[in-house]
Amino acid sequence: MSGNSILNSAKYSNNNTDEWYTTYETIKEEISHYTKAFYGKTVLCNCDDPFESNFCYYFMKNFNKLQLKKLICTSYSGSKIDQIKNNNQITLDMYYNDIAHHEDIQGSVLVITKMPGTFGEEVDDEIIRKTLSKKDTVKRLKGNGDFRTDECIEYLKQCDICCTNPPFSLFAELFSLIVKYNKQFLLIGNQNAITYKEIFPYIKENKVWVGYRFGDMAFRVPADSQPRKTRFWIDESGQKWRSLGNAMWLTNIDIERRYHKLELTKHYNPELHPKFDNFDGINVKRVADIPMDYYGIMGVPITYIKYHNGSQFEIIGEANHGSDNEFDLFKPKVNGKELFKRILIRRKDN
Ligand SMILES: C[S@@+](CC[C@H](N)C(=O)[O-])C[C@H]1O[C@@H](n2cnc3c(N)ncnc32)[C@H](O)[C@@H]1O
Repeated sequence: MSGNSILNSAKYSNNNTDEWYTTYETIKEEISHYTKAFYGKTVLCNCDDPFESNFCYYFMKNFNKLQLKKLICTSYSGSKIDQIKNNNQITLDMYYNDIAHHEDIQGSVLVITKMPGTFGEEVDDEIIRKTLSKKDTVKRLKGNGDFRTDECIEYLKQCDICCTNPPFSLFAELFSLIVKYNKQFLLIGNQNAITYKEIFPYIKENKVWVGYRFGDMAFRVPADSQPRKTRFWIDESGQKWRSLGNAMWLTNIDIERRYHKLELTKHYNPELHPKFDNFDGINVKRVADIPMDYYGIMGVPITYIKYHNGSQFEIIGEANHGSDNEFDLFKPKVNGKELFKRILIRRKDN
């Protein structure tokens, strides 16, 4: 193990989701729904190592296909990427000798304004490799590449769309920065973030919504990740993997899904839809149980958000602890039993 890797291991010695790395397929599948939105745009991936992140690889490979104006990727000096095997084989020895094993204090930045190849087509891996190996394609940052530093915020200001899987522990901070600068975004996060005080108000106002993939997602994890009984495996190449059952894409880029109406098949039935003990509204256990003929407030599972159509239902608030934010109205309880958090909705299309 190199000195640098030892340092990194000491720094990140657990299984936290901050070091979970996205697959190319996860990115490709989601972005296929938004391709028009990327035309002529500057994309920023600001938690992404240019040599290792599949976000960088995806946008380099599809630079001409999406007809991007510019791609900027910044990476954090503390990233554990040198322990991750890249399944796209674009990692360069040069990189390890030159950029990665520096004094562990500087991040790096990649800026691309054109890629060789044909307009409308994917870029060949060999071209990506050559582009990355050119001197000065990837430069060191002055600082550590933390997306909150001034130099990284300058890159954020330049972009149209910020697209990444950030450390989950910094998700709300990145979200707040992006909305502060009024940027479009497509971010991978944990579904719990939906009810965060920084995020929920935007969801409630239909300014932000979830993307297509909502639920299971597999991620490559560093070599020192501890085995676990569930949601952990090692593939034939030795790469360790983890999966998350409640992952999501969060975005403010318009998508067709937002206009689909949820088909309602159940009628209101006080037994299936009991009143909350402490709030004037009914509890709906499953999205499939939402009644077609109830016009008061309903508490539905978080997974409802995947089907939300702002012209069919209004989001009133959430029922979580009753105190998390101004929209967290009560702690959900039915017949004395406490329930898991609910989203509160009301029919709009009477
Ligand atoms: C969940 S991993 C995902 C990496 C990559 N975006 C991907 O999807 O494969 C988050 C990455 O953000 C890096 N990171 C941690 N703190 C950061 C910070 N303050 N600013 C920018 N990046 C950070 C981590 O080192 C890690 O590489």
